[in-house]
Amino acid sequence: MARARNRLLTIPRGTREPVSLDLLEAIRRRKSIRAFRPDPVPREALERVLALAQRAASWSNLQPWEYAVVTGGRLRELSDALVAYVLGGEEPRYDFERPEFQPVHQRRRVSDGIRLFETAGIHKSDPAYAQKRVEWRCRNMRLFGAPVGLFIYMERQLHTPAVLDTGGFLTTLMLACLPFGLGSCASGSLVSYPDLLRQSLGLPDSKLFLSGVCLGYPDWSDPLNTFQADRDPVELFGHWQGWDSTL
Ligand SMILES: Cc1cc2nc3c(=O)[nH]c(=O)nc-3n(C[C@H](O)[C@H](O)[C@H](O)COP(=O)(O)O)c2cc1C
Repeated sequence: MARARNRLLTIPRGTREPVSLDLLEAIRRRKSIRAFRPDPVPREALERVLALAQRAASWSNLQPWEYAVVTGGRLRELSDALVAYVLGGEEPRYDFERPEFQPVHQRRRVSDGIRLFETAGIHKSDPAYAQKRVEWRCRNMRLFGAPVGLFIYMERQLHTPAVLDTGGFLTTLMLACLPFGLGSCASGSLVSYPDLLRQSLGLPDSKLFLSGVCLGYPDWSDPLNTFQADRDPVELFGHWQGWDSTL
């Protein structure tokens, strides 16, 4: 039962007609997928997912998100180039500054990171730990076997509001995948060498890369897809005011 709940949905691969799906169920079930089947995704299904994601709200309805949808030989080429950077020891150089993490954020990322790595068979005590981490980065660059990669960017000069809007687009997109039986994993790794992406995709310097997305049909036989990320209790996040007031 728990195993069934861990899955997104049981929908035949290649489906073009979405199944009807309760919104609450979709929100609860969505999770990052890190092992995909090689089956191709019908372009029609992708177009419908992207049209749904386009419904995301944005500041003044700017709809600032843009993306490359890449598959087949082009995706392999891009992946090969990204893997070569990783193996060549190139430091990631994102289009945005890497934050200094406060303890609360550091705790969240580290505790989940360790659990995810353990699910992937990567243990800190292993003498080959460093090598396995490099291999993990390469698996990220190979999109965990997903047949489709989205590379999401925006006009640099639109600044923070457009970043927020594009995040909304990303989340809507990931939810819209579910009724088509598709799984996804947002990927910062895929945009960690944005100069390479701009050059390879033929884009000007004015485009700022925010995230990649791995997209395809989940491989449920892979233990990586049993991983469930934690969440802190919701009480920690809100700052409620005026609710007990009689005024
Ligand atoms: C912008 C963004 C970038 C991410 N980059 C990566 C990545 O490079 N590799 C990866 O395995 N997961 C990546 N993730 C997935 C997160 O680790 C995941 O969303 C988080 O742990 C919560 O888990 P869940 O999506 O399964 O609920 C990214 C998520 C977001 C939103």
